[in-house]
Amino acid sequence: MRTLIFALFFGYIAAISGQVMASSEGIHLDDVEVDLSDKASLQRGAKTFVNYCLSCHQASYMRYNRMAKDLGLTDAQVKDNLMFASEKVGDTMTVAMRAEDAQKWFGVAPPDLSVISRSRGTAWLNTYLRTFFLDDTKPVGTNNLAFKDVGMPHILWKQQGYLTHDEETGHLSPASEGSLSKYDYDVMVADLVNFLAYIGEPSKIQRLELGKWVLLYLFLFFLVAYPMKKAFWRDIH
Ligand code: HEC
Repeated sequence: MRTLIFALFFGYIAAISGQVMASSEGIHLDDVEVDLSDKASLQRGAKTFVNYCLSCHQASYMRYNRMAKDLGLTDAQVKDNLMFASEKVGDTMTVAMRAEDAQKWFGVAPPDLSVISRSRGTAWLNTYLRTFFLDDTKPVGTNNLAFKDVGMPHILWKQQGYLTHDEETGHLSPASEGSLSKYDYDVMVADLVNFLAYIGEPSKIQRLELGKWVLLYLFLFFLVAYPMKKAFWRDIH
């Protein structure tokens, strides 16, 4: 029986890791720490998202005022820093670009990123956003290790600089310098991925906070229940 359980368990693990490998086209994915309680990181990620991604992608499940509350910001702060003048705090994070135009310009419409962290996974996103490389054969001038022949240009090139890809070794090396060091660029992307993880599952923040109270409740309940159990069973032996 025990061997059967072990076999099932390891079979399951193997199946999961097989799936992860398959979805990444065989490339190594760089994991990243997701910490939804790190409000400063989420705020920085939100800023990057709004400034560099929202012009093409939307996050149509996310409302600005909900984000304000979850990220520990006031509505006014969100209005001043994260929104375009014409929007209201109750609006969802949509784009001004029309879908038909996007289709015309990029060949493919940029997908909504509301739940991308769940469909692709955060390690994939962290890899994708750091592995754009120069490729003259592509209309946008770049290609990507995690997403072959992607229609999206290297949006954060000013920060990261451009990379070249060595076909033989598979290594990426800098071709031009960006405004950020490699370390700072990695942090910028990690914050952005953290934010994408948050919009993929905004209620997780509440669940994490609620979870603490549930554990505390269970602990207090134990303090009451255990002496009671002892008292009830004292004479029965
Ligand atoms: C100039 C428009 C544009 C901007 C700005 C832009 N993207 Fe994209 N993005 C696209 C297009 C177009 C695609 C679809 C590419 C394809 O399917 O070949 C895409 C695809 C993606 C994908 C892959 C989606 C999938 O199908 O799995 C992710 C993830 C992504 N973008 C994230 C971002 C992030 C994060 C930012 C901000 C740093 C950003 N994008 C900024 C145009 C853009």
